[in-house]
Amino acid sequence: MSIWRKKSLDVILQHAQSSNLKRTLGAANLIALGIGAIIGAGLFVRTAAAASDAAGSGVTLSFIVAAIGCAFAGLCYAEFAAMIPISGSAYAYSYVTMGELVAWIIGWALMMEYALGAATVSIAWSEYLNELVGGKIPYEWCHSPFEKLYRTGADGVLAIKSAFPSWQGIDKGILTPDQFKLLPANLSSMVQIHSGIINAPALVILFLITLVLIKGTKESATINAVIVFVKVAIVLIFITIGFKFINPANHEPYLIPQGTPGHEGFFKWGWGGVLGGAAIVFFAFIGFDAVSTTAQEAKNPKRDMPIGILGSLLVCTILYILFGHVLTGVAHHSEFAAAGKEASVSYVIKTYMKGYEWLSTGVSVAILAGFSSVILVMLMGQSRVFYSMSQDGLIPKMFGELHPKFHTPHKANWILFVFVGAFAAFVPGDVAGDLTSFGTLFAFVLVSAGILIMRKSNPDAVRPFRTPLVPLIPILGVIVCLAMIAALDLNTLTAALLWMILGLGIYFGYSRKHSHLGKEQKDN
Ligand code: ALA
Repeated sequence: MSIWRKKSLDVILQHAQSSNLKRTLGAANLIALGIGAIIGAGLFVRTAAAASDAAGSGVTLSFIVAAIGCAFAGLCYAEFAAMIPISGSAYAYSYVTMGELVAWIIGWALMMEYALGAATVSIAWSEYLNELVGGKIPYEWCHSPFEKLYRTGADGVLAIKSAFPSWQGIDKGILTPDQFKLLPANLSSMVQIHSGIINAPALVILFLITLVLIKGTKESATINAVIVFVKVAIVLIFITIGFKFINPANHEPYLIPQGTPGHEGFFKWGWGGVLGGAAIVFFAFIGFDAVSTTAQEAKNPKRDMPIGILGSLLVCTILYILFGHVLTGVAHHSEFAAAGKEASVSYVIKTYMKGYEWLSTGVSVAILAGFSSVILVMLMGQSRVFYSMSQDGLIPKMFGELHPKFHTPHKANWILFVFVGAFAAFVPGDVAGDLTSFGTLFAFVLVSAGILIMRKSNPDAVRPFRTPLVPLIPILGVIVCLAMIAALDLNTLTAALLWMILGLGIYFGYSRKHSHLGKEQKDN
């Protein structure tokens, strides 16, 4: 059946040979590249979300689970990247291994990874910008219409605290939606409710980065190196100074106990919560696959690819665990559902680390720079996937058209701005972040399965790097990533399902008929 039609590996390799990339990257460069693409909103925003939603201080363990899934999938990516060295990443690999329909599904899921990932990071950018300007941007203009803020003055705090003495973090005057629901009418009337309208700063940063992308100003290697250095430095400084401010009581109990209000459901407390947290912080690891796309430029891919992928994962995992330990030690995890929900790192420094307010400003500035580079990489990744798909005829030609002067896919960039901007402006960061995790995990599952298929269908292809312990590693990759998908919340899974159904509708309504491969096969 035509939906299973596959591109031939030989033809792809012939095309790829026409691009002569130089082999200049060593293992250390690859690790730096990975870390540069990895550390971002996942660490500085989603860690707090995972701790308050599901894992408690056990978010450190969530990082380990997520890293294991990434390591398995990463080894599979590396084999493909070295073997099929063309742009388009997982989409392109699957067109060869599993046929057009699966490739389309992956391409569609990758849109969630890159486009929604960019939206998530731009929403986080908006949080830290607001923090940097002292919270002066009105709540309405830096939040989506689905978000509300429940705020009360000092009188309200006293009255609520005496009615609910055990409520954590209430003394900051911000309530979680669950807490608000529990208030009797006389107390709830003391709470002011703000509703978001549009997240304007997120739109602005996306607009600016779209302009940069269209102009094609390449991020110079130096700027990238500086940003990587600053990001790692900030994480290390926060960990080192924060360690002194850990209050051991905040780590007790380490996991969220059964029966905690607002934590009903298997993935919301205890070890289930650790898995739920892994699905949330998984976002923090996205980007290591960027290393695999440079397979053609590695000096010694066989040795350096696994070192680059696993090395950057290992460095980030160690940093993340320490970071999570300090963050949930300095402030109690429940605070990240209320007053510390946004710009959590700055919140923790300002509230508990007296004498280090300067660090909060430094952190915010560094984070804004770091997030901008992550958004840039994600939007660029997305336009590359669009480009490959349009070259194959699966989406309209327009997505691959280049600007006459700048030679960048400018139309794709503008369409992407409208699409990503709509999410950034009108959807909460949590929702966009979880959908990003879904899209990426789903692509990881299919890439891992692709290794098993490819070893059977093309056993003799030249493999500069081979995934070790096949079939064990790919099978474990599939299992761990599927477990994290299962741990995502039901709303995310429903939205993801609708997205995939929409994608299938477009495939059968448009792409299948316009596929160049389909036309070639008909002609022959
Ligand atoms: N890993 C990247 C981040 O956390 C996507 O922002």
